[in-house]
Amino acid sequence: MERKAKPKSAAHKDGGRTSPEVMGLLIQARALELTSVLQMLWQEYAVAGLESAYLHDVFEKIGREEMSHSEWLQERITFLGGDASMRTRDFKRSADALGMIADDVEMEKTIIAIYRKLVDAASAVKDWGTRHLAEKLLFESEGHLNTFETLLKKSK
Ligand SMILES: [Fe+2]
Ligand SMILES: [Fe+2]
Repeated sequence: MERKAKPKSAAHKDGGRTSPEVMGLLIQARALELTSVLQMLWQEYAVAGLESAYLHDVFEKIGREEMSHSEWLQERITFLGGDASMRTRDFKRSADALGMIADDVEMEKTIIAIYRKLVDAASAVKDWGTRHLAEKLLFESEGHLNTFETLLKKSK
């Protein structure tokens, strides 16, 4: 029986619903969002001490939002004909609550920098769908950054 091979990247074959740069940033962002899910899931159960119940809930709530972010990116990547595999990176395992929050601040800053680039790269090739998604993700990541930075200030 003859089977037609699936086109590997519709995105780049048809002259581009998007650019390789946009696809690269989407894949990078997905890896970081998935890594955030793991980092916060780990923090949720590793955090201990007086404020642990409160922090448990913060890590859980934001971790769930990171999972949605991963899914939205996954949908976009698949739609654009990109790589469907889901790689993650090593995540940080700090010993105390302050260290954990600082790890999350660093993670949000890294992700925000990628979304800024993605907004520009998507605009450059008129990939408005990706741009819309990148702006939404940028906005929500800035909200997360604000939450973590506020927690750090409170504890100092
Ligand atoms: Fe996120
Ligand atoms: Fe986030």
